[in-house]
Amino acid sequence: MKINIGYFTSTGNTFWLAERAKNMMERKHDVELFEAVSSGSKFLYECDLAGIVFPVWDTLMPEPLINAVENFDKDDNRKVPDKLFLLGNCAKFFGDAGIYWKKRIENSINIDVFYFNYFVMPRNVHIPGYNWWDLRPLQERKKLMRDAESKLEDVCKQLINFERRKNIELTMYERIGSLAKRRFNFIKKFWARMLKVEEERCIDCHLCYKMCPTNAIDIPEYEKISIKFQASKCILCLRCFNLCPEDAVLVGNKSKDVEEYKRYKGPRENFQPTFYR
Ligand SMILES: Cc1cc2nc3c(=O)[nH]c(=O)nc-3n(C[C@H](O)[C@H](O)[C@H](O)COP(=O)(O)O)c2cc1C
Ligand code: SF4
Ligand code: SF4
Repeated sequence: MKINIGYFTSTGNTFWLAERAKNMMERKHDVELFEAVSSGSKFLYECDLAGIVFPVWDTLMPEPLINAVENFDKDDNRKVPDKLFLLGNCAKFFGDAGIYWKKRIENSINIDVFYFNYFVMPRNVHIPGYNWWDLRPLQERKKLMRDAESKLEDVCKQLINFERRKNIELTMYERIGSLAKRRFNFIKKFWARMLKVEEERCIDCHLCYKMCPTNAIDIPEYEKISIKFQASKCILCLRCFNLCPEDAVLVGNKSKDVEEYKRYKGPRENFQPTFYR
């Protein structure tokens, strides 16, 4: 069987999950990973089973994955899968993301979402205004990854046998999460306008420019500032904020304090983000 998995990751947790899922499922099937910004809807064609692995953003998926689903054309002459699974990951609240995306995908592209599940992973949203989402100590983060890996082992056993998820019931945690759902487009505008570079810290390495998934970062030639953000293009992935090697990207002045607002550098030391230009 051919399985295609589409994913989007800002700080590497989702990629970590997708890569492990691929390795585990490869024991029985032929599995390929597709990064959503560069490959769009491609993972939804030419396979027997498709999967989406995503970080939860206020019960939503990142825009590149939403676009991939919305641009999918079932009448395309290529082979399309009749089943799809969803694996989400989040810092705290998955909310009703599984049920929400199951219904939305089934209604919009008419592919049976036979399975969803989620994993709690280290947080990458520790910014002023979200003080209760602080980066957990390293030992706790390692434990989260170990727990995620053993849960994934069970999940993949079900997936490779195409077992449908039964008794889809929301847990208390999931219910609490769904209370706050889908205000994302509102908070995105607010926070994206707060992004700026602390010029004294910036070493002009241009990593932020290369790794921004939406080309929302410019390097103005004739202006005093070295890095400029276009809030209207920003999807608030926080990749620039977290992965700038000098912690020079700020979300508001308070985040200058890097002890208070520690950045998340990814699930392993040598995590390399995708470059888009
Ligand atoms: C814009 C944004 C919104 C987020 N919203 C939520 C949320 O509603 N609930 C949650 O538990 N985690 C939320 N998170 C945290 C991420 O889902 C979590 O840290 C995830 O593991 C990051 O995966 P990545 O490293 O692949 O980007 C959010 C992260 C970002 C950047
Ligand atoms: S990644 Fe950081 S140091 Fe490098 S150019 Fe961007 S803001 Fe400056
Ligand atoms: S500007 Fe930063 S937060 Fe916004 S999309 Fe680009 S990398 Fe992500």
